[in-house]
Amino acid sequence: TGGDSGSDTDVINPGTAPGFPPFEYTEDGELVGFDVDLAEAAIERAGYEVGEWTEIEFDSLIPSLTQGNIDLIAAAMTIDEERQETIDFTDSYYESDQAVLVREDGELNPESVDDLADQRVGAQSGTTGQDEVEALVDDGTVNADDVRQYDNYTLGVQDLENGNVDALIIDIPVARNFADGRAVSIAFTIETGEVYGMGMRQDDDRLADINDALAEIQEDGTYDELVAEWFE
Ligand code: ARG
Repeated sequence: TGGDSGSDTDVINPGTAPGFPPFEYTEDGELVGFDVDLAEAAIERAGYEVGEWTEIEFDSLIPSLTQGNIDLIAAAMTIDEERQETIDFTDSYYESDQAVLVREDGELNPESVDDLADQRVGAQSGTTGQDEVEALVDDGTVNADDVRQYDNYTLGVQDLENGNVDALIIDIPVARNFADGRAVSIAFTIETGEVYGMGMRQDDDRLADINDALAEIQEDGTYDELVAEWFE
């Protein structure tokens, strides 16, 4: 309606990084997943309109948000202090630790990070999984040359199956999803205590409405329905 520059604040354009099933991935060319449904439900429940979804690489999400190309990140993004320097997060909506994914053939059967010594280890660029990989380089377990970085975990899993990397560090629910159907399996998990939040610009006061909507969605059973749909 109104013609001035603030007039489209009722539209929230979400962005995500697919290739992270069951949170966000493409199926028959269509973006689907738990985060997609949850974000749309929250936006609508908060009284806003779901704009257009943008699909980009994970490490481009925060710059896209701060530049205003998207208004909300729904990408299984862990709430962490470094990110909170530039963006705000909604209240947390999912908990996850990290998993170490290896080839199913059982050739490498690590039981702890020590068993990853001198192996090729990878993660998606810009993720907390990558932070774990870097910690292994810093403490001398993994050689810097043996680190593999992927634009998305789908490429990482392909490399793992093909023998081009020996282990991937990846959020547990997504590791489970890949292990179910691909030639990979979870060797062990790393307790990180991560929780996911949706990201919004620090000056966007619609965040409070999205938080209220998320709380409602959790109270009225919508959240549980989505969990049942995407995780079982
Ligand atoms: N939770 C991890 C992080 O925040 C990984 C998220 C990756 N998400 C994605 N859509 N690819 O760093």
